[in-house]
Amino acid sequence: MRVLVTGGMGYIGSHTCVQMIEAGMTPVIVDNLYNSKKSVLGRIEKLTGVSPAFYEGDIRDRAFLDSVLAEANVEAVIHFAGLKAVGESVEKPLEYYDNNVHGTLVLVEAMRAAGVNSLIFSSSATVYGDPASVPITEDFPTSATNPYGRSKLMVEECLTDIQKAHPEMSITLLRYFNPVGSHPSGEMGEDPQGIPNNLMPFISQVAVGRREYLSVFGDDYPTVDGTGVRDYIHVLDLADGHLAALTHKGREAGLHIYNLGTGNGFSVLQMVEAFSQSAGVEVAYQIAPRRPGDIAECWADPAKAKAELKWEATRTIEDMTTDTWRWQSANPTGYPEL
Ligand code: NAD
Ligand code: UFG
Repeated sequence: MRVLVTGGMGYIGSHTCVQMIEAGMTPVIVDNLYNSKKSVLGRIEKLTGVSPAFYEGDIRDRAFLDSVLAEANVEAVIHFAGLKAVGESVEKPLEYYDNNVHGTLVLVEAMRAAGVNSLIFSSSATVYGDPASVPITEDFPTSATNPYGRSKLMVEECLTDIQKAHPEMSITLLRYFNPVGSHPSGEMGEDPQGIPNNLMPFISQVAVGRREYLSVFGDDYPTVDGTGVRDYIHVLDLADGHLAALTHKGREAGLHIYNLGTGNGFSVLQMVEAFSQSAGVEVAYQIAPRRPGDIAECWADPAKAKAELKWEATRTIEDMTTDTWRWQSANPTGYPEL
């Protein structure tokens, strides 16, 4: 199966390409390298023995996409490309709507013109807003509290309308919980530019000495220890979820929606402890005020994906922290420029 992977040089996309190649699929990558480096390609090749086709360009460039699709001969698209920082989206809403919403519309137009009818979209648990209860099932009401989340919700709504109007299309919305971890080889991992927004890369940068201490955003939530609880999922389990979606739903017309999570919640302090154990390094932290927009707890009910995609997360918190540490300690400043 040949599959176009937009954003395939990024964190989740690169791990998904490795898993695809291992499973005998052929990813064709499109990425503008806005938030990734070209050296990722060499790491994919080192791990798999295959250097995937890579087209450098922007998904908002229709002529570029048309030429890629004319050449690549793909039967499906996995769409990772987009911007993902919640705080930045509040400062730069135009960029987020342009990249995430407009970019997706251009991509789907190009797919329609090329006769490609199968799409898997990277959505997020953020579309559940502040859920009334946990665990979260796919039929929970959706809402958004920031432009990033709203852009994901808008795309979900656009794709729902598009699928209705073009019933021959297969569109799968995958709502990720909190992706963390790295390839166990230590060759690939998360490489955020600037100060990390997310918990796991921040913890690992403290452990490796790049940052002094972690700020724990709030210890007065109604949770096990007062700190925020999330459903952390190993990036390779998440990657495998895309393969399962392609295999089981990619050729079935319709709109398909799945949570990709483990069904387990861990607090910030539990993650700090797990990481310290794996790395054998004390992770310094200080309690700080709550971060605006954060919710107390969020974890998935992953039963629908298990039943229909025959997929479930198998990797443990120790796998997530150990693999992150292997990557971070071997690559303290992330990927090389080239
Ligand atoms: P990432 O930034 O590592 O990867 C995204 C890739 O897309 C980057 O390589 C970037 O250069 C590329 N890109 C961005 N805009 C582009 C454009 N207009 N044209 C071509 N390429 C473009 O992010 P990630 O963590 O791998 O996330 C992938 C997707 O999953 C995103 O859509 C994100 O919103 C979604 N998601 C991520 C998380 C998370 O916590 N990482 C959670 C839920 C959903
Ligand atoms: N946290 C800290 N200190 C930090 C960073 C995070 O205490 O420096 C805490 C947060 O308050 C939260 C938890 O760690 O309780 C997880 O925070 P992240 O920023 O890692 O993740 P979020 O759950 O806030 O959001 C992430 C992605 C979103 C995505 C969402 C889906 O950033 O894009 O998961 O669940 F939509």
